[in-house]
Amino acid sequence: MKKYQVRGGNPLHGSIEISGAKNAAVAIIPAALLVDGVCRIENIPQISDVTLILQILQELGAQVKTVNRTTVDIDCSHIVNRQVAYELGRKIRASYYLVGALMGRFGWAEVPMPGGCDLGGRPIDQHIKGFAAMGGKVDVQGGMICAQVAEGTRLKGGQVYLDIVSVGATMNIMLGAALAEGMTVIENAAKEPHIVDLANFLNSMGADIRGAGTDVIKIHGVDRLRGGTYSIIPDQIEAGTYMAAVAAAGGEALIKNVIPKHLDCISAKLVEMGVDVEEQDDAVLVRRTGPLNKANIKTMPYPGFPTDMQSQIGAVLCLAQGTSVITEGVWDNRYRYVDELRRMGASIQVDGKVAVIEGVEKLTGAPVHACDLRAGAAMVIAGLAAEGVTEIDSIHHIERGYENLVEKLAAVGADIRVIETPDEEKAQPQVS
Ligand code: EPU
Repeated sequence: MKKYQVRGGNPLHGSIEISGAKNAAVAIIPAALLVDGVCRIENIPQISDVTLILQILQELGAQVKTVNRTTVDIDCSHIVNRQVAYELGRKIRASYYLVGALMGRFGWAEVPMPGGCDLGGRPIDQHIKGFAAMGGKVDVQGGMICAQVAEGTRLKGGQVYLDIVSVGATMNIMLGAALAEGMTVIENAAKEPHIVDLANFLNSMGADIRGAGTDVIKIHGVDRLRGGTYSIIPDQIEAGTYMAAVAAAGGEALIKNVIPKHLDCISAKLVEMGVDVEEQDDAVLVRRTGPLNKANIKTMPYPGFPTDMQSQIGAVLCLAQGTSVITEGVWDNRYRYVDELRRMGASIQVDGKVAVIEGVEKLTGAPVHACDLRAGAAMVIAGLAAEGVTEIDSIHHIERGYENLVEKLAAVGADIRVIETPDEEKAQPQVS
C-alpha cells in the first residue's frame, strides 16, 4: 500500500505552481460531448478524476489525443454509445455531468448514480428537477440514471428555480440547455468560478449563455457548437490548500498561476489568523512568521468560504491561539477528519454541523487516514506542522484532486515522500 510519510517542522520557502481546476475540468471535459468538432482543452490537471472522465468519454466513442502534459484534443463527432459503464461511472461524482451533456446532444442518456466522497446525503433531485423543466424524463433504475426526451424531440428551454444552491445542478442544467430549443433560465444558480468557466468554454464553442457568476443564468439554446481551444482556470482549492500549508508550517511561498480574486474568501481568513497575504497579478505571496490567531469560519456557496477548504483550515486552526468555531453550511457530514486530527493531539469537539477547536501548542506525528480528498489534504497540512513523523494512508483520495502534491511540497522544503508498505489492509477504492 502506498502512503505519504511527512516529517514535520520544516517551514516552506519557494514557489508552487497551481494546476487547472479539478471541478471545472470534470465538467468541461464532458461538455465536449456537445461539440461537433475538435475541442482543444488546455491547463488540464493530471489527477485521477480527470483520467477517469477522459476514459469514460473514450468508451463512449470520443477520440482523445494527448497534445502535451496539460493539453488534450477531444473529438466527439462520432459518439457510438450513450450508456456509461457502471463500474467506471460510479467511481466519480462528476459522472452526473454526462447526463446533461448526453441529453443535450442526443436526448438520451444512461449514467450510473454517481459515487462521491462520503459527505452525508448527496441527492441529485435538483438536477432531475432541471431536466424535467426542459421536458426530460428521468428515472433511476438498477443504479442507473435513465434520462430521455420524447422520440424525435430534443430538450426544450424551461424555467428552473433551484431549491438549494447546487454547483452540480447548475452546471448540469447548463449542459442540457446549451443545445435545447429556446431559452432556459436558472434562478438561485450557484456562482462558483468553475460555473463561469463552463459558461466561457461553451460560449467560446458557440453557445449563448449569459449571467454565469450571478444567481440568474440565461441559456439561449443554439443549433450547433463548433470546435475550438479553451484553457481551464487555475484551481482555487489547490491554491488555498498550499496557502493553508504555509500558514501551518510557517515560511514564505509564492503561489503562482492563480486568479487572486477567487482566493479572496480564503485570503481574508488567513489574514485574520495573522498570516500575511500579498496579492500580485496572477500569484499570491503567503508569509507566516508569528503565532496564529483563532478565527470563526462558516462555509457557504461562493463567494462565501468554500466547504472544500473547511478541513484544511480546520487543521491550521488546531495550532491557533484560542478557541475557533467552524460551521459547515453546505454538507451534512464533513467532519470525519476530526478523529484523525485528534490522533495527532488536536482538541476538537463536534456537534452536528459545528466544530469547536481549542488551539494546542503542538501536534505530534501519527499514523492517520485520508478519509476523503480534502480530509487527506488536511492530514498533509497537519503533518507538515507536527513534531515527528505522520504516515497518511488511502492516498488515492488525495490523488483524485491534487496533481504532484508530494513533488510540489518537497520543492518548497517539505520533508514528504511516498512510501510503500505491505498490503496489510486493502484500501477501499472510494470515490468522489
Ligand atoms: N443538493 C441537493 N440536491 C441536489 C444537489 C445538491 O440537496 O440535487 C445539496 C447537497 O446535498 C449539498 C448542497 O446541495 O448539501 C450543495 O451540493 P452541490 O450540488 O453544490 O455539490 P456537488 O455539485 O455535488 C460540487 C463539488 C464538491 C463541492 C460542492 C460544493 C464537484 C465534482 N464537486 O459538488 O467538491 O464540495 O460542489 O461546492 O464539482 C471536492 O472537490 O472535494 C468536492 C467535494
